[in-house]
Amino acid sequence: MSENFIEFSNEELSLPFTIDDLFTDEDYELVYGNNTSNEQLVYTKNIIWCRNLTSHTNENGDEILKVAKGATGLFRNRPNKLSRIFWEWVKDTYHEDWVGDLFHGGYFENFAPVSILVWNDNSPWHMEPGETDANILKNIQSNIRQNKWWGPWWRVSTTVCNFRLLGDDKNSTIHFADITDEFYETILNTRQKFYDKWTKADGGFFVSAVNDENFPTFQSYGDSDQIINDEAWHNHMTVKEIKNGFESPFMLNLGNVHRVFVGDQSTRVTFRLHSSKTLDWKTIKEYKNTGILLK
Ligand SMILES: [Fe+2]
Repeated sequence: MSENFIEFSNEELSLPFTIDDLFTDEDYELVYGNNTSNEQLVYTKNIIWCRNLTSHTNENGDEILKVAKGATGLFRNRPNKLSRIFWEWVKDTYHEDWVGDLFHGGYFENFAPVSILVWNDNSPWHMEPGETDANILKNIQSNIRQNKWWGPWWRVSTTVCNFRLLGDDKNSTIHFADITDEFYETILNTRQKFYDKWTKADGGFFVSAVNDENFPTFQSYGDSDQIINDEAWHNHMTVKEIKNGFESPFMLNLGNVHRVFVGDQSTRVTFRLHSSKTLDWKTIKEYKNTGILLK
């Protein structure tokens, strides 16, 4: 078995609905960049889209946050057929420990544990990061509030089960890297800075932390930790594993540093079912090895 990902055949695992059951015309407009409004949040029938910013500046005009282009959707729990089909499928398909308890409480009561990522470009090197530390989980849980609705929620998932909705199924790749101790220390310190700032913040959306205020090369924010200056960390990473193509569903270790190359550069849309925060990657692989991960 690969170290950082688990692949399934389309016979073993597939979504119980098509992209056209999920997307309305409005969703397609947004995904293909034809929605030119400035709204940050776009509500459609089944999804709330949050458009990624390319940067965000503070009141002094300093750029404090960089994220890749694209959009991220959260799958809404609706009193409709699609939601019923979805939940029945989740419960019939995955081990009960898998079933996500993400996005519960606070603002999140009406979301399924699903994120839908839209990319038009390669991702930066990042981790999401698969948090299983009991203290951090407790801290996040006790900070769920209305005014802090955007926070490190999905960082607590060790993995996601990825289904391709749109994009290159042959030429896209994901690279996984081993990193030096020095880089790992930097990641942990920056992540801690982020949690400290987020816990104290009144709002939640634009909280972010960088490793070095004067020469930032690494950043932590709501959903992930990422490199913002490749050159600074290039010598600290060794690519250890590459997943080629996206012809069938797979899970990946979100807690390891990885980078997605979108292949032919067309729009890539991935439906990601998140694991529950109680499962770590080692246990997920054990479940897979003993044949109990899927029912
Ligand atoms: Fe990722």
